Order: sequence, then C-alpha cells, then structure tokens
Amino acid sequence: PTIYRHDYVPPAYWVETVEMGFDLDPALTRVATRLTVRRNPEGRTNTLVLCGESVELVQLQINGKRLASGDYQLGNGLLQIPNMPDQASVDIETAIQPEQNTSLMGLYVSNGNFFTQCEAEGFRKITYFPDRPDVMAKYKVMLRADKKKYPVLLSNGNLIEEGDLGDGRHYALWEDPFNKPSYLFALVAGNLVCQEEKFRLEDGRDALLQVWVEEGNLDKTQHAMDSLKNSIRWDEERFGLELDLDRFMIVAVGDFNMGAMENKGLNIFNTKFVLANPRIATDTDYANIEAVVGHEYFHNWTGNRVTCRDWFQLSLKEGLTVFRDQEFSADMIGTASGRACKRIEDVRVLRQAQFPEDAGPMAHPVRPDSYVEINNFYTVTVYEKGSEVVRMYQTLLGREGFRRGMDLYFARHDGQAVTCDDFRAAMADANDRDLTQFERWYSQAGTPRVKAETRYDSEAHTFELTLSQSCPPTPDQERKLPFHIPVAVGLVGPNGHDIPLHLDGAPQENIHGQGTIVLELTQARQTFRFNRVTEKPIPSLLRDFSAPVILEFEYSDDELAFLMAHDSDPFNRWEAGQRLASRHLLALATSSQGSGTSGDTADEAGLGQAFHKTLNDTSLEPAFRELALTLPSESLLADQLEVIDPQAIHRARVSLRKVLAENLREDWLATYHANQTPEPYSPDARSAGRRGLKNTALSYLCELDDAAAHELAQEQYDNAGNMTDRVAALAALVNSSAPGKAAALEHFYTEFEREALVVDKWFMLQGMARATDVAAVRKLMRHPAFTLKNPNRARSLIFSFCNGNPAQFHAPDGSGYAFWAEQVIALNAINPQVAARLARSLERWRKYTPELQAKMRPALEQVARTKKLSKDVLEIVTKALEN
Ligand code: ARG
Ligand code: ZN
Repeated sequence: PTIYRHDYVPPAYWVETVEMGFDLDPALTRVATRLTVRRNPEGRTNTLVLCGESVELVQLQINGKRLASGDYQLGNGLLQIPNMPDQASVDIETAIQPEQNTSLMGLYVSNGNFFTQCEAEGFRKITYFPDRPDVMAKYKVMLRADKKKYPVLLSNGNLIEEGDLGDGRHYALWEDPFNKPSYLFALVAGNLVCQEEKFRLEDGRDALLQVWVEEGNLDKTQHAMDSLKNSIRWDEERFGLELDLDRFMIVAVGDFNMGAMENKGLNIFNTKFVLANPRIATDTDYANIEAVVGHEYFHNWTGNRVTCRDWFQLSLKEGLTVFRDQEFSADMIGTASGRACKRIEDVRVLRQAQFPEDAGPMAHPVRPDSYVEINNFYTVTVYEKGSEVVRMYQTLLGREGFRRGMDLYFARHDGQAVTCDDFRAAMADANDRDLTQFERWYSQAGTPRVKAETRYDSEAHTFELTLSQSCPPTPDQERKLPFHIPVAVGLVGPNGHDIPLHLDGAPQENIHGQGTIVLELTQARQTFRFNRVTEKPIPSLLRDFSAPVILEFEYSDDELAFLMAHDSDPFNRWEAGQRLASRHLLALATSSQGSGTSGDTADEAGLGQAFHKTLNDTSLEPAFRELALTLPSESLLADQLEVIDPQAIHRARVSLRKVLAENLREDWLATYHANQTPEPYSPDARSAGRRGLKNTALSYLCELDDAAAHELAQEQYDNAGNMTDRVAALAALVNSSAPGKAAALEHFYTEFEREALVVDKWFMLQGMARATDVAAVRKLMRHPAFTLKNPNRARSLIFSFCNGNPAQFHAPDGSGYAFWAEQVIALNAINPQVAARLARSLERWRKYTPELQAKMRPALEQVARTKKLSKDVLEIVTKALEN
C-alpha cells in the first residue's frame, strides 16, 4: 500500500462548489453533500473517484437521479462512479458517529463539543469526496443542532444566516468566498465563549478577531489574541500580505493530535497553544503560543491561498510557514541577542530531533518520494529541515531577493495547488539565479557533512579554506550528489576582532556586513583563498548556522574557548562552548562506561574557566548566558556516538553538572540572586531571560543536593508568583533528595487539579524525573487523572518517559521496551496517529549497545505482529525492523 510521488495523476473531475448540511448529533450525525463537478480536460477517465473512510453511505444521486448499487463501486475506501457526464451535480448522504471517533480525525466530540480535523485525509471521514489537495472548491455549510447544548455553530468564512428551527434546534449558514482543498474544511459546534476584537488592517478594512474557549478559560485568551494581532501586522510589514477575510477565528480544543490547524478563517488549536495566564503558563508556553498562532495565521497565504498539489509537497507549505513563524518570533523578541537566541533554540531542535531522523530508518527527503501513511510524514524533516531549506534561499539571495521571490510566487500561483519546484522557480526567476542544483535539498535525504581544512601562509599572507562535502547513505538512497551549500564564514584575528575579508576572485559586494562572507560550496571539494591576512586567524565557520549540515573542523580546546569569548557571531560563540562541552562529555561517556566517576580534571579546568567567564559576563544578556551554560542534552550527545549507552551518557552529563555546580557554586548563587524578577509577571523576552538564567542557576545548585540548595528550591516553590518559577522549583526539588519533595508534588496537584494543562506538567515532570522508573510510570498511570484517550495526557507521561528519560527508559533489563510495546498497542486501538508517534521512540534501535538491541528487537516484533495494526504504526515498525 505504498504511495509514490511519481504516480501523481491529475483528477478526472474538478469540484466547483460544495454545499453541505449537517444535522449534528454525537451518536449519529447526518451529512448531506451536493457537489457540482466538471470534467478535467487533462484527466484520463470519465470515472469520478471519491474517498470515504468509516462513513456509511446512505444515498447517492447524480443530477437528481438515485443510483442503484450496480451503478457504482464501493470498496477499499473508494467510491467510484463510472461513465460520468462532463458536468454533474452529485448528491451524497452519509451517516457518521462522532462520539465513537477516538482517532480525532474527521468529525469528533471533545468534552461534549464538536470539532473537526481534516488534514491530511480526515474529510473522507465525513463524506465521500475527492479528498486530495489539488481539488479546490467553494464551500457553503449549513449547521443544525440542539440550541441549548450547542449554542455556537462555526465554519469557514462568513456567517450569512442564522436562526431557530422551532424544535429546540437552531441553524447557522456559513460561506467561504475562497476556493479551498477539503483538508482546510472545519466546523465547530458547542458551548463556547469568545474574546473578540475589531482590528484595523493596513488597507483600512476592519476585521473581527475571535478566540473561542470553554467558559472557564476566558481569563486565558489575551496572549493568543495579542499574538494574532502581532502576526497580522508582521505579515503586512515583512511580506506585504494582508488578511483576506472579514472574520478570523481561533478555537481551542483539549483533545487534539497535533499543535494546531490552519483551516480557512477557523483555526483550531490544541488548548496547549492558546490558553495562558501567569498562574498556569510558563515563559516557554507563552513563546510557543506566539509561535503557533503566528504559524497558523501565516498559513493563510503559505498553505491556503497557495496550497500543495499533492502531499509529497507538504514542505512547500510547512517548511515555508515554519521559516515565517521563526522569523516572526525572532522579530518579536526585540532584545540585542534575541535573534541569536531564537536561532540557537531552533537549531537545537533541528539537531536533537531532525538529525537523528535523517540518520534512521524513517529518513526521507524534505519532499518525500513515497509513504504508506501520510500522517507519518508530518516530521521534523518536512517542517524543520524544510524551514532550513527556505532559510538558505534567504541566505543566498539576501532578504530583498527572498522577498522578490515571494512576491513572484504569489503573483504566479495565488489560488493554485503547486509543487516545491514552483517555489524554487519563483526564487530563481525573481533573482535571475540558477538554482538547479539547489533541488537536491528537496530530493536527497540525510544530513550532509562539511569538512573544513585550513592553511595559513605567514609569508604570502594568504589563508586557504578547503571545504569538502559528503552525505551518508539513507534507505533507498545509496549515493548522493553534492549539495549547493551556503557557508557563512568569518576570520577572527588574535585581538578577537573579525579581520577584513579579501576573497580571491570575489566581487566586493559579495562580502556581507562586517567580516562575514557567504561562500557557496557546490562541488565535492573546493578551496577558497583569502588574501592580505597578516596574522593567523581562527576561522568562524557556518555562522548563524547557514546550512543544515554537520561541520567538521579540528579546533583545539583553546581555540574554542577563544571563539566562545570573542566571536562576533553570537551563534558561533554559543556553538564553540557546546563543542567544548560535547568533546568533554563524549570522552567522559566513552571512558567511564561503567565506573560512574567523573573524568579528567585538567579538561574540566578549561571548561570550568570558560563557563565561569560566560556566567559572570554581564555584558551578555541573561537569555544568551542561559543557553551557553546549558550542556548538550543526552539525546544530542547520543546522536554523536557510534554506539549509544544511555546510562553512560547520563552519568557523564550529571557528573559534569555536579562539577560545574561545585566549582562555580558562589557564582551560581550570585547569579541566582542577581536575576530575580520581583515586578509583576510579564512574558517579555527580557524578564523571561532573567527567569531562565536564574532557574538554570537553581538547577545547577540543586545538583549539590545539600540543605542550602533544598531550601532555596523550597523557598522559590513556596513563594512563586508565576508558573515558570513554580514549575522550575518543583523540578529542582523532584530531582533532588529534598525532604519537601513529596509534599510539593502533592501541593502542586491539589492546587492545579482543575487545570488540565498544568496537570499535564505535573505528569511530565515526573515522567522525566531521574528517579522515575517503569514501575513508577505504571503507578502514575493508575492515577485517576490519567487517560490514554487524551493525546496531551498520554504525551505528558508516556512520551515524556520514553523520549525524555533515556537512562530509565533504556533500563538494562528491557522493562522500558516491554512497557513501550504495551502502550503502542493500547494506543493503536484508540488513536493510530498518536500510537505511531510513540512507535518512533524505538526506531533507532540499531544504534544502541548489542545488549539493549537484543531487548528492543522482540518489543518491535511484538508490535509488528499485533492484530488490527493501523498502517500508521505498521509503517514505522516495519521500516525500523527492515533498515
Ligand atoms: N497543518 C498543521 C500545521 O502544521 C498540522 C496538521 C497536521 N495534522 C495531521 N493530522 N497530521 O499547522
Ligand atoms: Zn503548519
């Protein structure tokens, strides 16, 4: 059942209009759909092909004539009607059971209200339809429901009529003026309230903005509303893109598979990315809400006005929209190093999640060539690597060149369903550039490696930089061709300043800003020569992480410490520190395998000095210092090892944290006290940065596990005026042997019992706690607040344990794997999408020690032979076992 990109065939029929009538009832909802279809001159048959899944077909008519069962074919999720006229009106009546729908795709019920999720292939769970993104139509939707239970009835576009039906029921009629693919359809019906505001657009029109939530959550919508307004302004200013509707709605739902969904004019969000006030949300939550509200809003142009021809093109909208939300968040921070901090966080995600994906059995190009289940391809490769690919256009073409490309893209393709090639062509044509080779970023999987070598000639004053690239094989792709890689480079002189660059053969205008040049590596190996270099420099390579590659260069420890202190590129200052720490940690992890002691103190002295300097350098913003003082995560370290021993990595990291805590105790304490935020809570980047640094100091101090640290954490917990400080203190307590930790956990639960998102935090913190083993997780699953049915809750405990607690999950006895198999199987019966996500926790099993592999394989096999396995889970475990 594998689908291939090369098999794309245009649809035989277009759909021009869709009229739908819903009689909403949780047990049995009836849907009447009328399509007007027209033959596609480029189509190859006169058979109309409609998709349907878990829907009962009640009636079917063509041009008012009821079809007999011999007039069409029904099977394998398809309804095929042969011998269709060139134009027709098709009436379809279906019946569905929203209450029974635990997959959370199509129409479902959450806490008594109706919601839909149609991307990628959920519309077919509502009615029979050519459920593919290149079929775009105008929709008119009539909703009918009990007025008391469902006072609010929403769909895409504009409300054109509403009223009573006389029998305790009422109706609302919605019309979306824009053509759209079925995956952007949405409806919401229920007992909801909204915060609303009129907002003046740049062109002078007023738009009505609404954030819909359950009654008790109206005190948590302000930040989402502010984020929406900021998003609208930003898209007008940065890209000249205006809101095209009179009304824009955001609705929050507690049961949701993903983050949020960009349905035209009616965005539906996981509550996690809407609801916030200082009592329940952390600084990170506030930042995530801003990013996701932006992301979904930006889809209105990149995704909705211009959509994807087929699902292989998913990154066309997702990579581009992630790039846009990353830029939006960076612009919103507004502190000196804010942009760099945002960049560092984004690169951290890429390295921690996407690099491993690219090196495992699920590795796929940004534009995949095949899939079994498209929902498995909403990946960090399509999203985050896709965003890096878009960012590289901007790096190569400059901001203005990139904008020219965007303008041409919309001029050419507004209202169309297009491909990644169309986007690349717009970028190339608008800038008169040849981007043919750049296509390989879309077609070749795997993380490229760029190796740098240098040669300084002190007589001739030349500095040569030789870059060579390679890319390891990935499933189905044995050999790779060279990529077109922008490598931003600076040369740092002995005084710590960038030296002026005089590149052999480069026109002066190619040299960007101060001392940074973007080299274009297009061959397997290339040498670049800089002239008039009077003193031996240290190269600062891949500044601002100018390409999603692994850079190899033999820096000495001293050079790294020097760059950490002086590089004018803040990203590379951070990077130098991370390299230094990784080098040390990896040595520790591979040498101490079983011993549990910390390693060579001479190395630690160098690292300690560098950390000491950064910690006390108050010219650096707190947010930057926090990032620089955070050691590479266990999963990031694991990815750099040939053979992963999770316990050894864990021990190495903890022992280095203890050493740094001890050696810098006074500095941590001083930093803790110097970065208090006594003023009323505000999530702005400056105060969030102070809190972040302060809480990092607290967590290091708690590594000492002494009475003083326990008191500090307890006091912060007791007096916290916001969730950021509260949860940081609780985490510090839980990971220590503080006497008050059980009481604090208990207090936290009682205090926030009625806030589902905070209960999620409570489970998550325990799922990731160092002392939490499989038995403890099983015990937590018996807590009355736990359920597998709610994705956020399942993720908060089970995913946080399997993905966020590697030392315990990979317990040598294999108990973690048995637990994993059990949960994947249980989730598979409820929600295949969520199950498949969890299944991915073991896909990299071949990277682990032979002892662990021997315990992982049977767990994977057990899942693979489960009866009624969804294709979602089947695809993951099959690929894991085969590759
Ligand atoms: N388009 C949504 C977003 O990125 C994600 C929807 C994914 N849904 C799914 N069922 N795979 O904002
Ligand atoms: Zn998206």
